[in-house]
Amino acid sequence: SRPQKLAGKKVVVTAGPTRERIDPVRFLTNFSSGKMGYAMAQAAADMGAETILISGPVSLPVPSGVKRILVESAEEMLNAVQAEYATSDVVIKTAAVADYRPISVQAQKMKKKEGGAAIELERTIDILQTLGREKEGQLLIGFAAETNDVAHYAKEKLQRKNADYIIANDVSEAQAGFESDTNRVTVFGKDEFEYSFEMMPKDELARRLLELIVEREAMHDR
Ligand code: PMT
Repeated sequence: SRPQKLAGKKVVVTAGPTRERIDPVRFLTNFSSGKMGYAMAQAAADMGAETILISGPVSLPVPSGVKRILVESAEEMLNAVQAEYATSDVVIKTAAVADYRPISVQAQKMKKKEGGAAIELERTIDILQTLGREKEGQLLIGFAAETNDVAHYAKEKLQRKNADYIIANDVSEAQAGFESDTNRVTVFGKDEFEYSFEMMPKDELARRLLELIVEREAMHDR
């Protein structure tokens, strides 16, 4: 049997999109399918971690050996993650969290009117940045979906969000990022650490990512 490199560790993974309600029948969201995050959770559980998967609305089965908590909005995801944070060893933020939400949710379905319409938005709280500020020894791993200047933005997020690693995917590339079964990422860490993986299935990539990080962090000594 495989060595259980994350035995005794608690790993929290977020996955999928969030939904930000406009009215009872409409919402803002994005193309995240949850595949990458679910693969991360499965890989963590396979390595022996107690694994909590905090997931936005997706249509994927719960990975084996994983406890899943379903949420809808960025705010619900923040609350669910914070409830687990103090007791976590590793937090992996694969979710594509909405950056904006409607300022108010209409109680009734919005009716068509002549002319255009506008929805006023406000910023959501940045979950990763919040966790970065409140860090007490947890290993914090973010993802970054970029369409240009990937390395530049990934390094900026590493700093600003006080993360230990940012896993960047160029979502403008075919078969990488949202919805596909494969992905291609570059890992950025402190001290100028940078490592690029080849394109591969998300489940294999998830395993390789965790193995790389466990190796580098010598997790058994934490
Ligand atoms: O789900 P799939 O279809 O498999 O697609 C996978 C993926 C493309 C969604 C995934 O690989 C990925 O890149 N996830 C991060 C997407 C994202 O929101 O990137 P970002 O650059 O906007 O955010 C950077 C980091 O901050 C992320 O870890 C994100 O979870 C976090 N964040 C962002 C906004 C916010 N309000 N709170 C956050 O915590």
